[in-house]
Amino acid sequence: MTPRRIAVVIGHPDPAPERLCRQLAAAYAKGAEEAGHAVRTLDVAVLEIPYLRTKVDFETGTSTGDIASAQETLAWAEHWVILYPLWLGSMPAMLKAFFEQVGRPGFAFRYRDKGFPEKLMAGRTAHIVVTMGMPALAYRWFFFAHSLRALKRNILAFIGVKPVGETIIGGVDGLTAEKVAALMAKMRAAGASAR
Ligand SMILES: Cc1cc2nc3c(=O)[nH]c(=O)nc-3n(C[C@H](O)[C@H](O)[C@H](O)COP(=O)(O)O)c2cc1C
Repeated sequence: MTPRRIAVVIGHPDPAPERLCRQLAAAYAKGAEEAGHAVRTLDVAVLEIPYLRTKVDFETGTSTGDIASAQETLAWAEHWVILYPLWLGSMPAMLKAFFEQVGRPGFAFRYRDKGFPEKLMAGRTAHIVVTMGMPALAYRWFFFAHSLRALKRNILAFIGVKPVGETIIGGVDGLTAEKVAALMAKMRAAGASAR
C-alpha cells in the first residue's frame, strides 16, 4: 500500500499515559509506522491553545506558536485520526478550542463573495475514535451520535475533509483486559491500513 502521511490528534486533556484514548492513539501510530506510513502526533494536553473569544479574531487573527505548527502538521497530513473521550455528551473543551484555533478562514476554508466557502482541506480523509462510559449502542441509537455527527459535518465536511470513518468505543469503565487487547489490535490494524 502507498505510504500515507497521517496526523494523530489526541483530544484528551489528561496527559496521563494510562488514559484509554492515549493507548489507542499509540497503538494506531505503532501500526501505521510499522506499515511504513509517516505519523505526526498533535496532543491537546501539551499544546498551548488559547480560547478564541471574538469573531474578529477568528477571521483576522494570526495563528502563532503551537497553533501555527499544528496547522502545518494538519496541512502536511493526508489523513487525520482524531481520538477523544466523550465528556458531557461532546468533545472535551480543549479539543473544541483546538478546532476553533486551527479551523480559521485562510487556513481551513476561505470565504467567497457568493455561495459556500471554499474548502481548503479538500483531499484529506479522517477517522474519529470516541470513547465513553455509556454503551456504544445507546450513544448511536438513543443520542444519534450527535457530537460525532457535529464534528463530521460542521467541522470536517465544512473544510473538505471526507470521507470520515468512525469507531465508537462504549462501556469503557467495564473493559476487561481481553477487550482492551482486542481494541489495541483493532487500532494497530487501522493504523497499518491508514484508515
Ligand atoms: C468530565 C467527564 C464527563 C463525562 N461525560 C460522559 C458522558 O457524557 N457520557 C458518557 O458516556 N461518558 C462520559 N464520561 C466518561 C468518559 O467518556 C470516559 O471516562 C472516557 O471515555 C474514558 O477514556 P479515557 O481513559 O481515555 O479517559 C465522562 C467523563 C468525564 C471525566
